[in-house]
Amino acid sequence: MKKYPYQITSLEEYKEAYEKSIQQPEAFWGDIAENFTWKKKWDDVLSWNFQEPKVEWFKGASLNITENCLDRHIESIGDRPAIIWEPNDPEEHHRVLTYKDLHKKVCQFAHVLENNGVKKGDPVCIYMGMIPELAIAVLACARIGAIHSVIFGGFSAQSIADRLLDAKAEFIVTCDGAFRGQKDIPLKSVIDDALIACPFVKRVIVCTRTRIPVSMIKGRDVWWEEEIKKVETLGLKYFDAEPMDAEDPLFILYTSGSTGKPKGVVHSTAGYMVNTNYSFVNAFQYNPGDIFFCTADIGWITGHSYILYGPLSAGATTVIFEGIPTWPDAGRFWDIVDKYKVNTLYTAPTAIRSLMGFGLEPLKGKDLSSLKVLGSVGEPINEEAWHWYDEHIGKGKCPIVDTWWQTETGSIMITNFAGVTPAIPGTATLPMPGVLPCLVDENGKEIEGNSVSGNLCIKQTWPSIIRTTYNDHERCKQTYFSTYENMYFTGDGAMRDDKGNYKITGRVDDVLNVSGHRIGTAELENAMNMHAGVIESAIVGYPHDLKGQGIYAFLIYEGNLEDPDLIRQDIIQTVSRIIGPIAKPDKIQFVTGLPKTRSGKIMRRILRKIAENDFANVGDTSTLLDPAVVEEIIAGKI
Ligand code: WTA
Repeated sequence: MKKYPYQITSLEEYKEAYEKSIQQPEAFWGDIAENFTWKKKWDDVLSWNFQEPKVEWFKGASLNITENCLDRHIESIGDRPAIIWEPNDPEEHHRVLTYKDLHKKVCQFAHVLENNGVKKGDPVCIYMGMIPELAIAVLACARIGAIHSVIFGGFSAQSIADRLLDAKAEFIVTCDGAFRGQKDIPLKSVIDDALIACPFVKRVIVCTRTRIPVSMIKGRDVWWEEEIKKVETLGLKYFDAEPMDAEDPLFILYTSGSTGKPKGVVHSTAGYMVNTNYSFVNAFQYNPGDIFFCTADIGWITGHSYILYGPLSAGATTVIFEGIPTWPDAGRFWDIVDKYKVNTLYTAPTAIRSLMGFGLEPLKGKDLSSLKVLGSVGEPINEEAWHWYDEHIGKGKCPIVDTWWQTETGSIMITNFAGVTPAIPGTATLPMPGVLPCLVDENGKEIEGNSVSGNLCIKQTWPSIIRTTYNDHERCKQTYFSTYENMYFTGDGAMRDDKGNYKITGRVDDVLNVSGHRIGTAELENAMNMHAGVIESAIVGYPHDLKGQGIYAFLIYEGNLEDPDLIRQDIIQTVSRIIGPIAKPDKIQFVTGLPKTRSGKIMRRILRKIAENDFANVGDTSTLLDPAVVEEIIAGKI
């Protein structure tokens, strides 16, 4: 039975919808958009070109996404839990926020933002742990039309400063600290370090969580709770949702690319809303009343689209988990599934692999019978992990959706639909309606037919496509729309099987996927090169049992190497400072030279083979400036 008018419930329907979405995208998405709340309807569903690029969906329409995520549910399901929050420590009390509660709190915090000078169009940086206030802050920004830019808690002060400078963000919402496993992360103190380089920041709103001592600067820093009290004293309750144009930016999310510094991916309001909702309802086959648990962090796109906007716009109950899967023990996810009778679990292969490593003991006594659908995202899922997930978590009765997508695509692009279209282990399978993938060779020629592989591109626009990179449209054009003419280039390689199913094979550019996190090698090399004594570095990925890819660094070091392990630790410390703990290299090998062509280009292909221990296939080294260096690196391999 269809729970949403646009929910697809059979393979035939999928095929029909897909055909229509490609042949008549305006009619297809226009019909779906009718199911949302608009202050004013659109004049045109779509105009686009990939040359500039310029993409406009639902042009002329006016809306506020929070009215779609909150207000429209109040009458019908106002008492249904919108958010179930599970704290890091299982001994601490959990929290439930109904749609009414969430609406009230978002309105209150929207007043707080306004009272603190935030206006429509202002970028607001959010650096918080996974607590309900993070969701409230994000939605309050959307309510007043400010552009949120959430930064993952694992980034360093330097990374935050880079992002604040790029976005010229004058407002920050943070916490005193965050609990993650056994750690207390001093978020405010990290922000304080970042702000040394950002004197333009006018206001920092600090929410209490860990209550570690924090420095509060007069005139700049205020407590969340005190600001809420002011709003209550003033009797401010309902907050009129700001009318936003369909194409007004909703948020910025920074992501690593193959060159230099991370770029601010900008998403629009209407297209993003319609597409995240549509993909949520269809890929997961969501049923109203189901409990949906996405284990990602809201600091990444998966959290934006499938903890917040997709589920909330569909009136779903979404679980927010503050902690980590392995603390206090490796049964944490299973406890949560059992405790809240979770129906859909959406997680990453890296988490599955790590939990597999603990065996079946942590599953004992956990009732997982509420589960109906499982999901995977972030990296290719290896078959071993897929089967473990299927057998031990899904008990062979839960379809697994393997969802391929990216920060830039905003919503799921290639996936099976749970129980509706066929699942194939390790294969994302078929494109979502509205998505027209293709494979191209190095020369940009499209590879037709089936049983082929190549670089994955998308030929047609879709509603939640990236609109620009913040303040630098040229960079957006160069990165995504210039490699191949008239196509969006994903940076991924893929295979298309004999039936047209897509299997993503991984990045084909210089971007690593470490535990499902994207890290550019250029960014890593810049950070390494900042360490005193490092003359040059080259970073490549190598297969890692848990992380999917590990970070292998080849370094030329001019200092004293008497105690190489200590130097390695120093270098790791530098990388942690510059980028954040998530970018720590796994292996550091000191070398005297790097394999370079005569024109000075580092031959990463060779280094990749060495890092993979595939010495027999390093290939032709005769074009190198100094071929002997390869033997030397192999001999010194750690
Ligand atoms: C990879 C995460 C294989 C891919 C939503 C992509 C995947 C990058 C899958 C985007 C999947 C994501 N199978 N690979 N199901 N999902 N990827 O921007 O390399 O953090 O380009 O978005 O993750 O990472 P991002």
